[in-house]
Amino acid sequence: MPGSSTGGIGSVGGAARGGGRSGPGAPVRVAIVGTGGIAAIHAQSLAALGGRAEIVAAADVDPERLDAFCERWGVPGRHTDLGALLAGARPDLVHLCTPPGLHKEQALACLAAGVPVLCEKPPTLSLADLDEIAAAERAGGAFFATVFQHRFGSGAARLRAAMASGALGRPLVAVCHTLWYRPDAYFAVPWRGRWETEGGGPTMGHGIHQFDLLLAVLGEWREVTAVAARLARPTAAEDVSCAIAAFDGGTVATVVNSLLSPRETSYLRFDFEHATVELEHLYGYGDADWRVHPAPGHEDAVAAAWEAGPSGQPSGHSAQFAAVLDAVAAGTAPPVTLAEARRTLEFVAATYASAFEGRPVARGAIGEGDPYHRRMQGPGTPWPADPEPVPSAGPEPLPPAESVPPAESASPEETSR
Ligand SMILES: NC(=O)c1ccc[n+]([C@@H]2O[C@H](COP(=O)([O-])OP(=O)(O)OC[C@H]3O[C@@H](n4cnc5c(N)ncnc54)[C@H](O)[C@@H]3O)[C@@H](O)[C@H]2O)c1
Repeated sequence: MPGSSTGGIGSVGGAARGGGRSGPGAPVRVAIVGTGGIAAIHAQSLAALGGRAEIVAAADVDPERLDAFCERWGVPGRHTDLGALLAGARPDLVHLCTPPGLHKEQALACLAAGVPVLCEKPPTLSLADLDEIAAAERAGGAFFATVFQHRFGSGAARLRAAMASGALGRPLVAVCHTLWYRPDAYFAVPWRGRWETEGGGPTMGHGIHQFDLLLAVLGEWREVTAVAARLARPTAAEDVSCAIAAFDGGTVATVVNSLLSPRETSYLRFDFEHATVELEHLYGYGDADWRVHPAPGHEDAVAAAWEAGPSGQPSGHSAQFAAVLDAVAAGTAPPVTLAEARRTLEFVAATYASAFEGRPVARGAIGEGDPYHRRMQGPGTPWPADPEPVPSAGPEPLPPAESVPPAESASPEETSR
């Protein structure tokens, strides 16, 4: 990633009230809120950035988790309350690593204190909540960015560069499959599998990683036609959804989001006029996970365009954090911006609206006052609201958090940077 020094952090396009305390070149002072599964990846990924950022404080309502996290990562400030953290630690940047249902209120508290936010996905439970944050961002000047780490591997940058070169031709067909497996015991964690705390099933929480990348590559989507079902898991939300998406440029794509697939894979495929580009991985990719297959007659041009692109950067939190710090240093909006995250969240809302209403949903159709603007399940799911009781996990340990661990945490790329 380019750039190795950071200036003060704070607002983009407005005055920072709470941020901006780090001097030019000083490490950005980060606070982590929520010290569970993904927080460890944040700490590890920040540590890999070679002193560009330091964790000055952490907060969690669970004092034991908080202590263990702070001991492990040498964090000096410990708080069981976000307000106390904001007042006491006065961080430059807050990483929100709490369950999704808490993101809105916590982000609003940070922005009200003038402190920028980097929030774990999904940014909020609904478009209405995200629009509230957008209003606060505009009013306060501090930025709100969302973690969508798969945009940041060199493979994605290489694809974009090859597209821009013209060698691939127009994108015509795409496939985006998140075929993951989560057993019943996964839903024993209280915030999982509930609309009011997780905001949905694999569409909102798992496939979102993959179709965020799909949307970042293909541009504006135009319309979604979808089905969603709860087939097998003790969850109030869906455990599978399938969408057909049409894009402004004409591309058509299928998007499958499943928690029911014993052979797990994350698979994206782009069929351009002159080449097929495929990515197959699970929770994070490197350059070797990409394959390019030229159409007859286009071998040399496609190979040259692909080889010319960037390489060597696996997807992951470190890559996004570096890009965030680069943007801050350059005074530009840190990725993934609220507007970009909203496009992805609107795709989620459209998938649910189409599935539950049984009709295609166009981009822009879910406006203020629409039930799917207020909550992802709209007026309600076609299946009974209450999930089946979650059986005791028994001696079987809970699986890793829904995305990154263990694959990303164990990845040599993540640990060696
Ligand atoms: N980007 C990725 O690949 C990825 C992977 C896993 C999880 N996530 C996201 O990260 C977020 C957290 O997921 P997780 O798996 O780490 O959850 P988790 O349950 O392991 O951790 C959440 C932590 O937040 C704490 N918490 C709860 N209420 C709080 C409050 N009011 N103030 C402070 N702390 C509070 C809990 O005690 C817990 O320690 C979710 O939004 C999830 O979707 C993202």
